Amino acid sequence: MSSYNPFSLSGKTILVTGASSGIGRTTAIECSKMGGRVVITGRDSNRLQETYQELVGVDHVQVVADLTDSKDVDSLVDSCGILDGLVLCAGIGKISPFQFCTQDKMNDVFAINYFSPVELLRRLVKKKVIAKCGSVVFVASIGGCPGGKFTYGNGIYGASKAALWSMMRFAAKELAIRKIRVNGVNPGMVETNLIKHGIITDEQHKADMETYPLKRYGQPEDIAHGIVYLLSDAASWVTGHSLVIDGGCTI
Ligand SMILES: NC(=O)c1ccc[n+]([C@@H]2O[C@H](COP(=O)([O-])OP(=O)(O)OC[C@H]3O[C@@H](n4cnc5c(N)ncnc54)[C@H](OP(=O)(O)O)[C@@H]3O)[C@@H](O)[C@H]2O)c1
Repeated sequence: MSSYNPFSLSGKTILVTGASSGIGRTTAIECSKMGGRVVITGRDSNRLQETYQELVGVDHVQVVADLTDSKDVDSLVDSCGILDGLVLCAGIGKISPFQFCTQDKMNDVFAINYFSPVELLRRLVKKKVIAKCGSVVFVASIGGCPGGKFTYGNGIYGASKAALWSMMRFAAKELAIRKIRVNGVNPGMVETNLIKHGIITDEQHKADMETYPLKRYGQPEDIAHGIVYLLSDAASWVTGHSLVIDGGCTI
């Protein structure tokens, strides 16, 4: 049987943030199944360990870190080694009608959804630990990016992801000189803890799901497989792109 597989991550080391839960956890596991060696990070050491135990293969590394804490980010950067891939997945949701969008709430959301991925990438680039032909993937959202779905109360979250989308494109242009590709994925609603802590009921979720042409919310694997593609050599001519993965909800 042929071993030809342009989507393979064999021989690549990939750092995945937000790997203690949801999309980040599944992405780390799928990357390991595709032959990659992963460095996983999250805040909750027990849940990070659960992810670690599900990884396939050897030599993976786990680092507990709060990405809004500068010292933790320093330790993470120091323990990565040379990276072929970086998945910036850690993030939080926040529902707040516009009149209650205080600066404190914006600071909390922007700290982890926008500043932390941008700062982590900046430090890794400055330290020159992202390999030539490396691939960076920002996890944004359809909830605020161009062509996305602008739902009521999602302004702070949507704005943080729109800022991330914009910086992704600037970084893609500037890092192309080192042959580093920078892309994003924009998921629709995915079944993770993030959407379980919202303010809408199960009935409202079911009604919303019916508005999706494919009649379901995403599973973390739906997003992880798009990320694997962007990390792999199959996407070696793709940069500055946002891959919308949303069951058709923004058609
Ligand atoms: N689920 C969706 O419908 C959806 C849709 C579009 C985009 N997204 C995006 O997908 C990404 C992952 O979300 P998810 O749905 O997988 O949510 P999740 O299951 O709640 O996972 C969020 C992850 O982010 C980590 N995190 C949060 N704050 C952190 C901090 N200060 N420092 C370090 N890590 C931190 C969490 O770590 P700990 O748990 O260890 O604290 C966890 O691993 C987010 O960026 C989210 O905006 C999700």
